[in-house]
Amino acid sequence: MSVRKLFLLPGDGIGKETMAEVRKFIAAMNEKFNAGFETEEGLVGGSAYDAHGAAISEEDMEKAQAADAVLFGAVGGPKWDSVPYDVRPEAGLLRLRKDLALFANLRPAICYPALANASSLKQEIVEGLDILIVRELTGGVYFGSPKEIIDLGNGQKRGIDTQVYDTFEIERISAVAFELARTRNNKVCSMEKRNVMKSGVLWNEVVTATHKARYSDVQLDHMLADAGGMQLVRWPKQFDVIVTDNLFGDMLSDIASMLTGSLGMLPSASLGAPDPKTGKRKAMYEPVHGSAPDIAGQGIANPIAMIASFAMCLRYSFNMIKEADTLEKAIANVLDQGIRTGDIMAEGARQVGTTEMGDAILAEFLKLSA
Ligand code: IPM
Ligand code: MG
Repeated sequence: MSVRKLFLLPGDGIGKETMAEVRKFIAAMNEKFNAGFETEEGLVGGSAYDAHGAAISEEDMEKAQAADAVLFGAVGGPKWDSVPYDVRPEAGLLRLRKDLALFANLRPAICYPALANASSLKQEIVEGLDILIVRELTGGVYFGSPKEIIDLGNGQKRGIDTQVYDTFEIERISAVAFELARTRNNKVCSMEKRNVMKSGVLWNEVVTATHKARYSDVQLDHMLADAGGMQLVRWPKQFDVIVTDNLFGDMLSDIASMLTGSLGMLPSASLGAPDPKTGKRKAMYEPVHGSAPDIAGQGIANPIAMIASFAMCLRYSFNMIKEADTLEKAIANVLDQGIRTGDIMAEGARQVGTTEMGDAILAEFLKLSA
């Protein structure tokens, strides 16, 4: 039996509670299907700061590098609002993405039938929605230098961030988007701001050239990112795959999450390039939601985004397609049964906490797997 090495980083806030639900799936799959998952656990974010004074320790970074996949919960909280910038909780997440070279962030926004009325948008706008945002994750303004605040000496300061993209970065992320589109509805919409940004002009050029050279069978459209945000809430079903940079992808994926009913529903996968020798990709899986300090520790958080992130891990890191499909189906069925956490609560449904939601999905998963 092959060993599958998972490194768990629950992080802060509801990250701890939602990761506890994923641990149940790992244990059950080991016990019932001999899945061979080996897990280690580390600290990231505020929890790591409290323990080591860093947003992630070198030892945990090594474990992340050695794992087949990293499962990440969430980081941050008011407790760490005033820690130095370099060791703020988010720095741990950004370091993982950068050091593992996880340039491709896949954020699927799927509106489960049972949740079409939980969205703040009209039911017919979101019903049956299935789009995929492919966000560039290791470049752009989040990482470009200079990145600093300088003192101008006249009582003024200047804050500087640098938006920068090289050809290869745009090429490889658009290739990921085109490849994925081929497995779906074969459509890609690229979003940038070429009307005001040089990096947007280059983005547009390189996506167009990559399409022409290697993916002309895929339908390609371009949209300015602000108009794209508007179109996402106007008629999201016009999209299949959206490819965009780090900053726009961050914003557009939060918008997309509300199309699904709740931020608590959106999983993500962050993938590196395949290793030329083994074909394996470094990968990290995390819910799009944050640590939700306002509800942390109360046992009411929605664990679905975290569980669905584990389903993405089965699919993309371990090629366990059948298990991933079954787990996604189990989530849909449990929602159909009218079981809901508070964030997606509807009239006539039964409201449950984090643990019960996890248990219900696990029971359904095992039933469907039998
Ligand atoms: C996300 C988050 C992160 C980001 C934060 C926590 C650094 O918002 O994954 O979307 O900005 O990328
Ligand atoms: Mg975000």
